Amino acid sequence: MARILITGGSGFIGARVAAALAARGDTVVSFDTVVGPEIASLAEANGRVTTVTGTLTEWPHVADAVRIAAPDAIVHCAAVVGVVNSLASPVTTMRVNVEGSLHVLECMRLFGVRRLVNLSTEEIYGHFTADLIDEEHPCRPIAPYGITKFAVEQLARDHARTHGLECIHVRTPWVYGPRFPRPRAPMTMLDAALAGRPLHMARGGDFVVDHVHVDDTVAGILLALDKPDHRYDAYHIATGTMPSLAEIAAIIRALVPGSEITVGPGPYYFGDKVAAVRKGALAIDRARAELGYAPRHDIRSGIAAYIAEAVAGPR
Ligand SMILES: NC(=O)c1ccc[n+]([C@@H]2O[C@H](COP(=O)([O-])OP(=O)(O)OC[C@H]3O[C@@H](n4cnc5c(N)ncnc54)[C@H](O)[C@@H]3O)[C@@H](O)[C@H]2O)c1
Repeated sequence: MARILITGGSGFIGARVAAALAARGDTVVSFDTVVGPEIASLAEANGRVTTVTGTLTEWPHVADAVRIAAPDAIVHCAAVVGVVNSLASPVTTMRVNVEGSLHVLECMRLFGVRRLVNLSTEEIYGHFTADLIDEEHPCRPIAPYGITKFAVEQLARDHARTHGLECIHVRTPWVYGPRFPRPRAPMTMLDAALAGRPLHMARGGDFVVDHVHVDDTVAGILLALDKPDHRYDAYHIATGTMPSLAEIAAIIRALVPGSEITVGPGPYYFGDKVAAVRKGALAIDRARAELGYAPRHDIRSGIAAYIAEAVAGPR
């Protein structure tokens, strides 16, 4: 049974990682600025799950969390997430994502924690140069979000090299599932469909990007966490496919009878303002070969699972 510190344990992915670790008997400490409802009920139900409140930007808060947790490894989910948020608050994004992650790395060095699984993103690549890319694709991030997330990877590589840490970067594309915290497709479409509201997105139908169900993301994180030795320090935890938003809208219409979800052609704009860069699919050959990762869901079965869970309520 391992002891795992999760930064961002109140978040969409972090809370789900916490639940999966707790279910297999690990001891989990969540560090976050807030205590969200999922982690709160998990902690109430399971004596091996605790929460520590603090911010990544305050070194003593991070040091306290690492000291209290005395973890075997850290799963680093906390961040200012998303292109729109990062453009709205570039300085905070820099502080939380870069300075905050350095606090985590420095605490690992000082408290003798060897392994980090860091949640990274396809935004570190910038414009994809092909429809299907692997982990060796050049990293030319564009928005503060991707720039800071790439900086975290590079700083972690430096800490790994100079201080003997093991920092593994799980690069995920668009993760979807119930309780996604930002207004983005497919959640916006699904919320409308399930509420019986018609939704027409004026543009974005031609935009393609790999979409991974949150349960597959969590499975990949746990595989990276558990593998004793890594030959690589970065893995795509994705599906290797690239549904368009028009295809996703059609799947939702088929799965939610009577739903009126449509999307016009053209590129996607975050928050209806910021054009998304060219994206595509993330090859998962490395994760398959090295981690034994095999996503359970394609986009259709993932959306069906999302709908089933949203209808049934929190599990
Ligand atoms: N959801 C996606 O589609 C996606 C895609 C690629 C990568 N990621 C990465 O996965 C990770 C988790 O993303 P998510 O979707 O769960 O986001 P989220 O916003 O739900 O979770 C982030 C958590 O970090 C916490 N946090 C923010 N600032 C903090 C601070 N200063 N100190 C401590 N905690 C702080 C928030 O309170 C939140 O609970 C992030 O690192 C993100 O970059 C997410």
